[in-house]
Amino acid sequence: MPKIVSVHSFRGGTGKSNTTANVATLLAVRGQRVGVVDADIASPGIHILFGLEEDKMGHSLNDYLWGKCDIQQTAHDVTANLGNDVKGRVFLVPSSIKAGEIARVLREGYDVGLLNDGFRDLIQTLELDVLMIDTHPGLNEETLLSIAISDVLLIILRPDQQDYQGTGVTVEVARKLSVPCMMLVVNKVPAAFPTDEVRARVEQAYHAEVAAVLPHSDEMMALASAGVFVTRYPDHPITAALKQVAERLSRSG
Ligand SMILES: Nc1ncnc2c1ncn2[C@@H]1O[C@H](COP(=O)(O)OP(=O)(O)OP(=O)(O)O)[C@@H](O)[C@H]1O
Ligand SMILES: [Mg+2]
Repeated sequence: MPKIVSVHSFRGGTGKSNTTANVATLLAVRGQRVGVVDADIASPGIHILFGLEEDKMGHSLNDYLWGKCDIQQTAHDVTANLGNDVKGRVFLVPSSIKAGEIARVLREGYDVGLLNDGFRDLIQTLELDVLMIDTHPGLNEETLLSIAISDVLLIILRPDQQDYQGTGVTVEVARKLSVPCMMLVVNKVPAAFPTDEVRARVEQAYHAEVAAVLPHSDEMMALASAGVFVTRYPDHPITAALKQVAERLSRSG
C-alpha cells in the first residue's frame, strides 16, 4: 500500500474532493486506516462530504501550520458517518473554513516543510496505512509539495480541451519531481463518449495509466457533495469503477 496518495487536477471542479472521499472510504471498507488531508487551504470543502460540521471542526490544518496545536489534534475520526460497512477508519484533517483564517494563511504563507513533517507525523501516530491528500487545483506551493512527496499521484481530468492541456503541465511537473507512480482518472465523461476510446486516447496522450473512466452522473450531481457517493449508491457503475481504483492503489507501492 502506498503511504501517500495525492489527488490533483490542473483545473478546478474536476472531481478531486469527491474522488478522494470515495476512494478513502472504499479503502477503509477494505479494512485500511486512512488519513485524508484537505490541503486545499484556499477553498476547502471535503469536510462537507464527510459530514463534519463547521462548529465541530475544532482544530484545523491552519492551526497546526500556525503552531497552535499538534497535527494529531487536527485529525477527526469521521468513520461513524460512513455507514456500517467500514472495517477500517477514516481520519480527516480539515482546512479552516473561516474567512479570516483563509485570508491569513494566503497572505502570510507558512512553512511548507511543516506540512511535510505533519504528514509523516500523522502517518506514524495514527498508524495509517495510507494518507490521501486532496489538493487545490493548479500548481501552488502546497500542491507542488504534495506532488513531490507522493508515492502515487492521481490526476483527475475531464474530457475537455482545457483539462487536456493543463493535465499535460501537471504530468510534466510530476515527471520532473520523479513521482514513483502516476495514474489518471477521467471523470464526468458524457454517455455519448465511448469509454474505451477515451481511455486509449488519454493513455496515449500522457503515456500514463488510466485508473478509471467515470461517467458523468445525475445521481452524483443530485447528491451535490452532501455525502460520500459509494455509501449511498453501492451498486452504481461509478462505485464499481472507484472500487477498482481502490484495489489498484492497494496493489501499488
Ligand atoms: N462523475 C460525476 N458526475 C457528475 N457530477 C460530478 C461527478 N464527479 C463530481 N461531480 C460534481 O462536480 C462538482 C465538483 O466536484 P468536486 O468538488 O469533487 O471537484 P474538485 O475537483 O474537488 O473541485 P475544486 O477544484 O473546486 O476543489 C461537485 O458538484 C460534484 O458533485
Ligand atoms: Mg476540491
